[in-house]
Amino acid sequence: MYNLCMKNSFNSHANTYDEYTNVQKKVASNLLAKLKIKGKRSRNIYEIGCGTGYLSQALLNTFEPDNLYLNDICPNMLSLTKLKFDGMRKESTTRIHFIEADIEDEAARTLLNNKYDLICSSSVFQWIKTLEQVFIKINNALMQDGLFSFAFFIDKTFTELNTAFCDVYKNLNMEYENPLLDFYKKDYVLRALKKSGFRVENFKTVEHLCYYNSPLEFMKTLKQVGASNFREKNVSYIVLKNVLKKYKELFKTENNKVKVTYKVLYCISRK
Ligand SMILES: C[S@@+](CC[C@H](N)C(=O)[O-])C[C@H]1O[C@@H](n2cnc3c(N)ncnc32)[C@H](O)[C@@H]1O
Repeated sequence: MYNLCMKNSFNSHANTYDEYTNVQKKVASNLLAKLKIKGKRSRNIYEIGCGTGYLSQALLNTFEPDNLYLNDICPNMLSLTKLKFDGMRKESTTRIHFIEADIEDEAARTLLNNKYDLICSSSVFQWIKTLEQVFIKINNALMQDGLFSFAFFIDKTFTELNTAFCDVYKNLNMEYENPLLDFYKKDYVLRALKKSGFRVENFKTVEHLCYYNSPLEFMKTLKQVGASNFREKNVSYIVLKNVLKKYKELFKTENNKVKVTYKVLYCISRK
């Protein structure tokens, strides 16, 4: 059900995704920069949750692999990536494979064992419920010494929004309900990687701060990238109205903007 909500949301906002995703673009280019340092040519690359293909294009241009496998759960996201690649494919010798599948689905044969020398993913794993199982799957899919490289949003992302919600629930005498995704903590991710058989080579968190004209503008941006459906239950109008007010009160900057924290975990590990 949770995956269905998320899938529908990304599907219906695929067209506006590119326009509103400055943070995700920055995260993907930082991840790529880290990968470039490793510098080896990769023959078979698999990307999980490619979205509209921002990182995918960079992977193609940087590594010129023999095969580039692009996965996403949302057909509309994959269609947009296909469109972007149509022009490029003629000049490139890379074979591109599009795989519409839920990476968490045990029944789907999304990843083949011992096949890839690089598996990567950017801004996706915050949506994954069974992270450790997915890590095990990825470990099996990698060739010996293959690289697993990812970045995603973890605990303390949108900490301001959470604080505003806490305050409002308290003032309205309502029971606190986490309004956000259950973001992973970095220690949990590190343990899960080690348990799944990875050697961790680079593991770093970075806070990306963004500034919006208002809390409403920030919430609208989340909607435009398809990332606002954190919960099945809708927040009531009265709560939302108070949250927007409280957010501004607590996190307004000197030049009348509001601050939003994105906390990103960057990792490069090896089988
Ligand atoms: C925030 S977007 C990131 C897209 C792209 N990687 C980027 O950096 O711009 C998250 C993407 O992950 C996909 N996704 C989420 N859960 C997934 C799953 N279980 N299996 C495959 N793709 C998934 C979504 O459909 C969406 O395209």
